[in-house]
Amino acid sequence: MKKNNFYVTTPIYYPSGNLHIGHAYTTTLADILARYKKEMGYNVFFLTGSDEHGLKIQQKAEAQGVEPKVFVDGIVETFKNLWKLLDIDYDRFIRTTDQDHVDAVQKIFTDLYEKDLIYPSSYQGKYCVSCEEFLTRAQYDDDFKHNVCGNVAIDFEEETYMLKVSAFKDFLVKLFATDFLIPEARKNEMLNNFILNNLEDLSVTRVSFDWGIKIKENDKHIIYVWLDALSNYITALGYKSGDESLLQKFWSDETEIVQLVGKEITRFHSIYWPVILNGLGLRTPDKLLSHGWILNRDTKMSKSIGNVVNPIDVINTYGSDALRFYVAHNLPTDRDGNFTDDLFRESFNINLANNVGNLLSRTSNMIMKYFDGSLSVNADLNSEIMLSAKKTIKNYQAKMDKYNISEAVMEVLKLGQECNKLIEDTRPWDLEKEGKIKELELFLANIRQAIIVICYLLKPVLVKNYTRMVTQMGANANKIKFENLLSDEIDFAKIVTKEIIFERLK
Ligand code: ME8
Ligand code: MG
Repeated sequence: MKKNNFYVTTPIYYPSGNLHIGHAYTTTLADILARYKKEMGYNVFFLTGSDEHGLKIQQKAEAQGVEPKVFVDGIVETFKNLWKLLDIDYDRFIRTTDQDHVDAVQKIFTDLYEKDLIYPSSYQGKYCVSCEEFLTRAQYDDDFKHNVCGNVAIDFEEETYMLKVSAFKDFLVKLFATDFLIPEARKNEMLNNFILNNLEDLSVTRVSFDWGIKIKENDKHIIYVWLDALSNYITALGYKSGDESLLQKFWSDETEIVQLVGKEITRFHSIYWPVILNGLGLRTPDKLLSHGWILNRDTKMSKSIGNVVNPIDVINTYGSDALRFYVAHNLPTDRDGNFTDDLFRESFNINLANNVGNLLSRTSNMIMKYFDGSLSVNADLNSEIMLSAKKTIKNYQAKMDKYNISEAVMEVLKLGQECNKLIEDTRPWDLEKEGKIKELELFLANIRQAIIVICYLLKPVLVKNYTRMVTQMGANANKIKFENLLSDEIDFAKIVTKEIIFERLK
């Protein structure tokens, strides 16, 4: 069933330090999907934010000698600044210290408590403060080091309220029989390591520190940071706020709900989050896309390890579109990927400079040189290159509809290569010498329209340059839509520039 609404979320990141390329990766993918869905005519809501409570943040703030709220206020500003530089067009930036979120989380706790899904108890186990996660024996080594972040797990023993996760085993088994979680390989990991292997209740309150949301039921307890954080996806839409109009729209069956996360937090999003939602009587998202890691020197790039690349440096050197393009194209979500300066420059040169950029500048150049910037014919929609363009649109949409951004971009690049090759094979400069002017003109009209298709399909990625690109072809950016890409309805004005948009990096 085709739905009308699209809701896409990123994790809310810890303001424990500056964001790096890993966070830019997830958020850019979400932004690209949001922009694509808007072009497809959906009503879109795109959420990101910051996860501000918990022991880790409290400890970081203490180390700096400031109040936690003062500490996070400063860092959150840097998050917002980065998203602005990267052209991230979110609809809300939620902070878990926002009063509406705090109120709603208390109500969520009470609701689950009154349904007997939360009960007072005590808990003992190994806990990773850096990941704010209870670990099963398989998750730490003999030195008690967590296998994800390498930090030593602490002993946790507290009076606590527990969430009855164990009662949801059948629900989870059924959920995991669907294609809710991608990639497929992550499903078996969750089933074998957690769901089918002693599914335990989850400790959801703390008494040993106080940087968190108090429960109404007992003033000694604050809510576990993950119950607080996961709830953001619905509190951001007004859940239990008195005005649930956004929730009714974007958490309804008419909405395609897609959540993007890095693979290390799949357990929280594929097990605990659906359990919480089910307990509250709310639907489960359509898709949890759990992507691989960006590695740096073979280990996960991470704030706590410190082997990070600063996205602001990359943006300052190469521009935001270049960064958006690299993460979209070079980092397929179903595996780990690399981010190095060499790989980045190589991809930029091959794809943006030599393929797309070159195609744009040589085509505008020829239209100016041979026809003074204006063609008097439209593309032949049945020409080979336009039929290829038509196929490209179809393949691109099929990939994007499966959130496979990298392969969708590759489809577009293929069309660019085809156009470049066609120019070399056709040798328009010979057509001109031979006086085959009509043929030359139609050829350039076909290429020009294929270029419009290429630019438009890259519009969700190349946000800063899109208008410049289509303007260079003489097209009016506001008039280009999926519906008229393969039509005569794009009015082309005189081409006046043959500038080089993606200059080759030396
Ligand atoms: O986990 N490669 O926040 P966080 C790819 N607050 N993606 C990466 C990455 C890497 N090397 N490093 C980080 C938290 N990410 C919680 C989330 S949600 C209710 C609460 C991205 O600051 C990726 O999306 O540790 C990963 O899941 C997220 O940042 C973790 O950010
Ligand atoms: Mg983390």
